[in-house]
Amino acid sequence: MKLRTNRASPFARKVRMLAREAGLSGRVEEIESAVSPVAPNETLARENPLVKIPALVTDSGETLYDSAVICEYLDTLHAGQRFFPASGPQRFSALRRQALTDGILEAAVLCRYEAAVRPEALRWHDWIEGQKRKIRGGLDALEGEVSVWGDDFDIGQIGAACVCGYLDFRFADLDWRAGRPKLAAWFERAAQRPSVKETAPPS
Ligand code: BEZ
Repeated sequence: MKLRTNRASPFARKVRMLAREAGLSGRVEEIESAVSPVAPNETLARENPLVKIPALVTDSGETLYDSAVICEYLDTLHAGQRFFPASGPQRFSALRRQALTDGILEAAVLCRYEAAVRPEALRWHDWIEGQKRKIRGGLDALEGEVSVWGDDFDIGQIGAACVCGYLDFRFADLDWRAGRPKLAAWFERAAQRPSVKETAPPS
């Protein structure tokens, strides 16, 4: 399988982390792809009309996107503990946590594009503040529930590790640890996992 990825992308990191946790990294060839919301990328567009990474070309030649779909697909390819619980309250709790962490990441990536790509004269302060409120609100929700996670590392915790890592990478000034000691302690432990270390964004 071929994974179109980018080492800076937190959504691609979800997939790369899950592939390692599931023991599938030997089957997933990671192909680094340049991405920009304003520049064309015809190779990627042929595989994903939304021109977004991650995109996974399976062994049968089908392309899957987005990160949630790819992660759930990879979870069907191994015999270990499921990262997407099969049914019941555990499943919907994990899916909700994935939605929460994906939402934080979407807001953070939009802020990043706003700062790095949008011409300064076109920036809209209130819109950026609105996205930052979503990030802070999402982090507060994670702080409120992290103490019941125990040692679980399902798709929700994979997302949470990607959130903490991306904020450290791009938004150090946000100081996300301030007032969120439980989430900070959880991430310190999670960051020791080989899957988290091996997928760290470029320094
Ligand atoms: C980033 O450089 O922050 C980034 C790269 C790819 C996708 C999303 C974010």
